[in-house]
Amino acid sequence: MSNPLHIVNVVGARPNFMKIAPIMNEYAKHPTAIKATLLHTGQHYDDAMSRVFFSDLGIPQPDINLGVGSGSHGVQTALVMIRFEEELLRLRPHLVLVVGDVNSTMACAIVASKLNIPVAHVEAGLRSFDRAMPEEINRIVTDRLADLLFTTSEDADRNLVQEGISLDRVFFVGNTMIDSLLSLRPIFEAAGTKAKFGLNNERFGFVTLHRPSNVDDRLTLTGICSVIERIQQSTKLFWPLHPRTKNRLVEHDLLPVVKEMKNVILTEPLSYIDSMSIMTSASIVLTDSGGIQEETTVLGIPCLTLRNNTERPVTITEGTNELVGNSPEVIYERAMDILRNGGKHGRIPKLWDGKAAERIVSVILERIHCDTN
Ligand code: UD1
Repeated sequence: MSNPLHIVNVVGARPNFMKIAPIMNEYAKHPTAIKATLLHTGQHYDDAMSRVFFSDLGIPQPDINLGVGSGSHGVQTALVMIRFEEELLRLRPHLVLVVGDVNSTMACAIVASKLNIPVAHVEAGLRSFDRAMPEEINRIVTDRLADLLFTTSEDADRNLVQEGISLDRVFFVGNTMIDSLLSLRPIFEAAGTKAKFGLNNERFGFVTLHRPSNVDDRLTLTGICSVIERIQQSTKLFWPLHPRTKNRLVEHDLLPVVKEMKNVILTEPLSYIDSMSIMTSASIVLTDSGGIQEETTVLGIPCLTLRNNTERPVTITEGTNELVGNSPEVIYERAMDILRNGGKHGRIPKLWDGKAAERIVSVILERIHCDTN
């Protein structure tokens, strides 16, 4: 009998956990063919940003944690690279699998590539065409280096072809974040988290913000806080604060202003089940997250994305998402229209059917062999 295929799977930041969970579950169905190592870079380290997701999503504890923590882009990326290289030299896996577009994704793809270890990228080909967004650089570099590129939508395939990547390496498989959503839907729908925060059957909105383009600049953040203040005059808003956003609100003396708003429920970052449980009964979502644009599309909840572009256009053409930038007037008008008249009705994009991880693992078993490196 041949040795199992050894795959090192990388996670680093919060949105990675929902994407890796179904893949780890799928590996477990092939115990003799696959040996899976889970490596956490430690980019996110607070319990609320990391540990709770492992229990909610049923992900095994990481085998390795690089403990890199926060830092500038250069420092964080470099530290992941230094520590990941040491581990790869020791482990010598047959494949490194990275997900999403965070700094850890790109850093680990570069290291594996330079050691001639094949790289699989899950969520390849997404492009905002906005290089001011750090994630866009991470996506371009990771896709350039990846040997297997797994995409969530057909527009991503087209982006890759336009960049000269051979379709032979590209596999449209669906969306592993949606695999997680569909498998845990009965649990979060039954969780009733909103009641724990005093929400009953009244209409409410869900707000999540963390993009540097929205929260780092004082004027922009002040404008966003002002529109939140106006919307909460008619509708309760639930706003879990990302640590970056909380830090900026404190720095810009805005936290006391937000705390004063009587219809805004401010909380620490929520677990996966709690945030999905609340989102699923919201009347509107205001966000700048990538994943939430996709999750609201599947849940059929109107979503206003506070950005001028999106790397996930399918959530607009087919889903419930709408781009509103960060101008307070536009956000207010669109939010009020949705609250008065209901929002877009979308449909679920192709292959977002809960089987993406199954497709990914079957491609890996077909394409990667133990003698690959
Ligand atoms: C990162 C990702 C972003 C993703 C987001 C999801 C990159 C370039 N950015 O952004 O794509 O959408 O995660 O959350 O990879 N902090 C804590 N505790 C933590 C983690 C961070 O307090 O566990 C604070 C630190 O002050 C840190 C700041 O948040 O400086 C930002 O963290 P960082 O990982 O650099 O970027 P995010 O904004 O979280």
